[in-house]
Amino acid sequence: MSKIISIKAIQVLDSRGLPTVACRITLDNLLTAGVMVPSGASTGAKEAIELRDGLDAYLGKGVLKAVDNINKIISPVLIGQDPSEQENIDNQLIELDGTEDKSNLGANAILAVSLAICRVAAKNLDKSLHSYFADIYKNITGNSVKPNLPMPMLNILNGGEHADNNIDIQEFMIIPRGAKNFNEAMRWSSEIYWNLKTILKSKNLSTAVGDEGGFAPNLQSNEEAIKLILQSIEKSNLEPGKDVYLALDCAASEFYKDGKYHLTGEGRSLDSKDFADYLENLVNNYPIISIEDGMDENDFDGWKILTKKIGSKCQLVGDDLFVTNKKIFQEGIDAGLANAILIKFNQIGSITETIETMDLANMNNYKSIISHRSGETEDTTIADLAVGLGSGQIKTGAPCRSDRVAKYNRLLWIEDECPDLKIG
Ligand code: PGA
Ligand code: ZN
Repeated sequence: MSKIISIKAIQVLDSRGLPTVACRITLDNLLTAGVMVPSGASTGAKEAIELRDGLDAYLGKGVLKAVDNINKIISPVLIGQDPSEQENIDNQLIELDGTEDKSNLGANAILAVSLAICRVAAKNLDKSLHSYFADIYKNITGNSVKPNLPMPMLNILNGGEHADNNIDIQEFMIIPRGAKNFNEAMRWSSEIYWNLKTILKSKNLSTAVGDEGGFAPNLQSNEEAIKLILQSIEKSNLEPGKDVYLALDCAASEFYKDGKYHLTGEGRSLDSKDFADYLENLVNNYPIISIEDGMDENDFDGWKILTKKIGSKCQLVGDDLFVTNKKIFQEGIDAGLANAILIKFNQIGSITETIETMDLANMNNYKSIISHRSGETEDTTIADLAVGLGSGQIKTGAPCRSDRVAKYNRLLWIEDECPDLKIG
């Protein structure tokens, strides 16, 4: 048995140039592994708490307190322990924090340690990180998963909180579902992305990009964004609705106020029923097969209307709605909300809890999508997580900017190394 001899955290920068937590763990055989945690911008209200210093440095966004909590509080407890005891270690971290929302030590501190433990344990066993994730899923839940390569959902046009344009819907994604493998999926996506750039340029629209690498032009309406993407698919000699499909993340909590969905870009305000009609109309007219956060995170009646209306023909994904939290997700399942869940490990703050939430989805026939955050780093852990847990879907931005592309590149390597893995 190998033992942990050192746990060290420092403050590093994320893709927005804001601080985040990096953590490195070393074993007594001198094997070492490190991770960095991501950070959201359009966060769900019930997410675990990301500890920020609130001091002058970095406009209050420093994470030195979380770093200190790792170096001074967590490290002394875990030193000497066996890194292959993932569930046990995560439970100790949760207990040490002692709060429901991890506000004491910080979800950013706890997750950094939880992920670094996985990485160093996998290395110690001489296993790929993705196969190690499949193993600990079995250990934690007693159930098996079938690893696969995820179908990518690439956010190539950004709006909402992720861009300084007038588009209300946060993400317009392409899903290259007709691609025979991950490699081909990425080639198609890159070609579509570049053709979209050419089309935007030809219309004198901005080709500056948002937080997730997608373009962020000012447009007349959400529908105009969809039409531009369809053109770029056709310009790539691909067929919308056959080779490539579309997905939206409305992030509707960001524009829901006083019982109405305010589409300011289009100068319209709609109640839940009308907004559900608006989305149904989009699904009927365009090859949209997935809609995330189509309703506000507390508008359960709206979610029920939407799920009833289009749940049989469209994947309806709860992100801010479920916040990767087993308890909140179970309530949503019981109420019949949505039919899929977005999995973001920093929403809940440990790998064990992330796996438990994922298992709950599997047990209830909810689909799942492993996801990045809008604030990312070059860390590629989610790529391995998507493969190991066999989620079949990953959402990690445009095929542009190293913080996004790092994950896709890791998946290209996994596909090359594991020719038996199928996509989707
Ligand atoms: P966030 O957005 O990382 O800024 O919260 C991503 C999403 O809503 O899916
Ligand atoms: Zn979302």
